[in-house]
Amino acid sequence: MKEATRLTCCLPIIIVLAADLCVGIRFSAQLSEGSITDTANQQQLRTAVFALGSFWRSEAVFGCLDGVVRTTVGYAGGSKTNPEYRSLGDHAESVQIEYDPKVITFKQLLEVFWTSHDSRQVFGQGPDVGNQYRSIVFTNGTEESRLASVSKEREQTRSKSGIVTTQIQQLGTFYPAEPDHQKFELKRNPFLLQLMGNLPEEELEKSSLAAKLNGYAAELCPPRLQKRIHAKINDILRKGWPILREV
Ligand SMILES: *[C@@H]1O[C@H](CO)[C@@H](O)[C@H](O)[C@H]1NC(C)=O
Repeated sequence: MKEATRLTCCLPIIIVLAADLCVGIRFSAQLSEGSITDTANQQQLRTAVFALGSFWRSEAVFGCLDGVVRTTVGYAGGSKTNPEYRSLGDHAESVQIEYDPKVITFKQLLEVFWTSHDSRQVFGQGPDVGNQYRSIVFTNGTEESRLASVSKEREQTRSKSGIVTTQIQQLGTFYPAEPDHQKFELKRNPFLLQLMGNLPEEELEKSSLAAKLNGYAAELCPPRLQKRIHAKINDILRKGWPILREV
């Protein structure tokens, strides 16, 4: 874990009132045992991409799950090259999920996908209206296509009256969105950022802990995890030993 190589000292009051007084000491990543394990694990990670409405929310939903190692928001499903937030063309707001298939499967991710939005809405999700908020399962390979079709049929049976509008598409290019949109929910919470030791943007985007806290900030973690993180944060505040390394 990258987070484990970082040590910061500060009091709870300082955390809240004077973020910039904190001192971070970083050890060389090469020397830490954690980074070797990280590299070994990286090789077995798989990638999934889903579109299910606003990507701020999508990232928060998936970031919390056990087995999800990293999340990135971006644009996929369209043809425009180098889309941007204000001109994303025919792309959909999407979340890319790197996960450990030994802990969570594509099938389980699909379940979360279906239960985290209304796949019967045609042109958006709730207040977010437009083509960019459409529902898509991106698949890589025949097995994932099969799983996606089966789960869509099941969803259609469940939803009875409404037509499930979700598209199933071959995964093409995923364009990561601008930094402002990465871990959006977490960034709205300076206190949580400080608890993590104010990681630089690059590290924040790759951090598993940031993915989890992003979900926590949006209150979209499974209830038990939401509670556990809350308790950890309170514990840190009580003890005054300040850095949150894992949840
Ligand atoms: C599809 O999966 C294979 C094998 O896991 C991987 O090497 C490849 O990069 C993936 N393709 C895309 C577009 O992500």
